Amino acid sequence: MHVSRSLLIASLVFATIASSAQGPAIRPVAHPPLPVAATPPMGWNSWNFFAGKVTDQDIRNAADQIVATGMKDAGYIYINIDDTWEAERDASGVLHTNSKFPDMKALADYVHSKGLKLGIYSGPGLKTCAGFAASLDHEAQDAQLYASWGIDYLKYDLCSFRRDEMAAKAPNDKAAQMRMMIAAYDKMGKALKEAGRPIVYSLCQYGWDSPWEWAPALGGNLWRTTGDVQANWGSIYNIINQQAGLAKYAGPGHWNDPDMLEVGNGRLTLAENRSHFSMWAMLAAPLLAGNDLPNMKPEIKAILTNSNVVAVDQDKLGRQGTHVYSDGEVDVWSRSLSGGAMAVAVLNAGSDRVASHPFHLNLAKLGLHGPQKGKDLWTSKDITLTENMPIELDSHDTLLVRIASPK
Ligand code: GLA
Repeated sequence: MHVSRSLLIASLVFATIASSAQGPAIRPVAHPPLPVAATPPMGWNSWNFFAGKVTDQDIRNAADQIVATGMKDAGYIYINIDDTWEAERDASGVLHTNSKFPDMKALADYVHSKGLKLGIYSGPGLKTCAGFAASLDHEAQDAQLYASWGIDYLKYDLCSFRRDEMAAKAPNDKAAQMRMMIAAYDKMGKALKEAGRPIVYSLCQYGWDSPWEWAPALGGNLWRTTGDVQANWGSIYNIINQQAGLAKYAGPGHWNDPDMLEVGNGRLTLAENRSHFSMWAMLAAPLLAGNDLPNMKPEIKAILTNSNVVAVDQDKLGRQGTHVYSDGEVDVWSRSLSGGAMAVAVLNAGSDRVASHPFHLNLAKLGLHGPQKGKDLWTSKDITLTENMPIELDSHDTLLVRIASPK
């Protein structure tokens, strides 16, 4: 993917030079379309709040709310329909939408009219996870259908392919099963390219067989690294810990996906919502909100639209953060940012404030020497990090600091 883009750019530049060498007219350089997902995709997905109940009207409302709440201005652009929009195929194999989505093209036009993009969902099997029609043997047809509707993002979910294809056709041969899975994702990757519309390709196969190693080569822009996130701290913290070691696989155009955001869902405390969002930013994770937008509380909106934290996630260097060390129940992560800056996250994973009392940062372990001037990204206040300062954090809260010139 990257190679072909570079070739395209190189050939366009060459065409320009060649033409100017042959005659006086210098043709303007044709600009190829910007690659999708140059930074981790941001938006909202229907599943975490609506699950199987989502309708066309909910998606329109979500688009309206993304604009009205300022989330669009904060960078949330993709409005993604998850599972349960599908009906059956007709005699020509064309997939139809069900009655909850009467006119997908009109819906895409509406979402686009707000300056937003529309995402959709399918999978390589016969059925999706919720039992609706998926793309098996209709990959090219479906990719063309999405392109004709104006779809900008596809989440492609393994689901029934595992049981009905992998396990059924290669029982007891895990290696053969994994080859089938990769081939299935490759097939849709090619179909999307051939459909000729820039569509973000999101792989959802729960991190099996290290997708970070093979997904970028088949055009994957993001790949789930774990099972489904849930709106509770145990699930979120478990996922955070599973990301250690994956940083080297992320970069512009291809991202590890620790799953969508649960910020504002379930019974997460404000500290937990802050930590969830802080750590997804440290991980250069896609930021796909999944909350009840029309009833979003101001404090949840403040978290999702915190421009300091979003800027860490969207940093153009695209270097994912790493776990540096843990001391007791406190975890310390760091992330290199463009311009030589650095983000440091100190997370109290303990069930009490006492877990971080007293906690002293080990700057040497972060590769830092002496006091570091920074900005606390949640209070927006200046802060100087020293080894002596006692850091006290509420249970499951995170101190997130940007150091502009780390020493
Ligand atoms: C799987 C995915 C979820 C969601 C559901 C829809 O569980 O991992 O993110 O898309 O399917 O059925």
